[in-house]
Amino acid sequence: MNPALPSDFLWGAATAAYQVEGAVGADGRGRSIWDDFCLVPGAIDNGDTGDVVCDHYRRWPEDLAIMKQLGLDAYRFSIAWPRVIPGGRGPVNALGLDHYDRFTDALLEAGIRPFVTLFHWDLPSELQAAGGWPARDTAYAYAEYAAVVAARLGDRVRDWNTVNEPLCSAWIGYLEGRFAPGVQDLRQAVDASHHLLLAHGLGVEAIRANAQQPANIGLVVNLSGIEPASSRDEDIAAAVRMDGHVNRWWLDPSNGRGYPADMIDVYGIEPPVVGNDLEIIAAPTDFHGLNYYFRQLVEDDPAGPAPYARQVPVEGAATTAMGWEIYGQGLADLIHRLRDEYGSQAIYITESGAAFDDKVAEDGAVIDTDRIAYLDEHLTAVAGAVADGAPVKGYFAWSLLDNFEWANGLDKRFGLVRVDFDTQVRTVKASGQYYADLIAEHRARR
Ligand code: FCB
Repeated sequence: MNPALPSDFLWGAATAAYQVEGAVGADGRGRSIWDDFCLVPGAIDNGDTGDVVCDHYRRWPEDLAIMKQLGLDAYRFSIAWPRVIPGGRGPVNALGLDHYDRFTDALLEAGIRPFVTLFHWDLPSELQAAGGWPARDTAYAYAEYAAVVAARLGDRVRDWNTVNEPLCSAWIGYLEGRFAPGVQDLRQAVDASHHLLLAHGLGVEAIRANAQQPANIGLVVNLSGIEPASSRDEDIAAAVRMDGHVNRWWLDPSNGRGYPADMIDVYGIEPPVVGNDLEIIAAPTDFHGLNYYFRQLVEDDPAGPAPYARQVPVEGAATTAMGWEIYGQGLADLIHRLRDEYGSQAIYITESGAAFDDKVAEDGAVIDTDRIAYLDEHLTAVAGAVADGAPVKGYFAWSLLDNFEWANGLDKRFGLVRVDFDTQVRTVKASGQYYADLIAEHRARR
């Protein structure tokens, strides 16, 4: 039974610039921390890079034709800051901005609503050299960049994501060091977290001030339901800390509650709040962007890094090729939490999807029944939440295309569309067809 959603539900797919664009030397693009991180030996599986990937920067007309074929209502993509302002701050690169201008027009002409993400991790290298996200100035540089893009595209683009998953930039980039820029330092990570949130708040202001029409703006967070691995007091306390680290540290300040006091104690570090930062960070937005991949079962880990809790596998659970548990109910739980605890009036599922080890048949077909089942489970969870009155307005499958999965390189394929990275041939997978059929079915009811 296919999930049933309201007739005005928005059906989309998502990508991010560094993961699909390639063409890293084209049209005056500057370098980003991900270009640099790819050069660090051992940082990326198989030594893969984002240099070429899907060549989406040049091949977008073909990809747009595929989006039309799938019947997408919306496409969530990110703008590469180093294409628009190659040095991070300073001169605007007209060629880079022109590219996104043309692309926006083409999407609109195809009847596809552009959902623009302003920052999806590709911080210009020069800003990292000047201190990166731990430096307060980076948030102001972001605001200048956001203003430039909003002034140029804001007459046509209505939907904006300020920052994608600040958790990953701050905690994985500056604490765990598994993502660019590969730093392992709690002080830097906490400072980075604050400046990413400040950038979000300043971005909201910059978009509202520069776009030529009312904007629909949201921060995109990746949330996980957190459960203790046992009934031991230590594990229960660990789950509270992990929930603070993963969920509340981002949701509380951006929804006007300030930083969770228990987490300031856990880190033993005050975030570098200045003046009315907390007010800026709590700027009213129009929706919550929710990326969902897995829940976490956690146990106490006193010797580990903050928050001194670690994720343990769920015994017997089905997992994706990333090793992430498949748990659709977790998405419904998070939707309810956003509505009940944070009063959310509008939620977009800005990312949801799975990597599997796709097999290519002799005729080139990819019959990815595991991905179809995954999408079906998660969309059914969304449909259930909507039937219970939750304000979910749309769903963006991650991802439109197979792409560069950060530290995991090119092997972990999330696409509804297969990309052969040697020949650049695109093939709609069975899951892409499933999604297209679902969209068509809903469209017929409009
Ligand atoms: C999210 C990222 C996205 C993609 C998926 C699998 O954390 O936002 O770019 O890599 O995970």
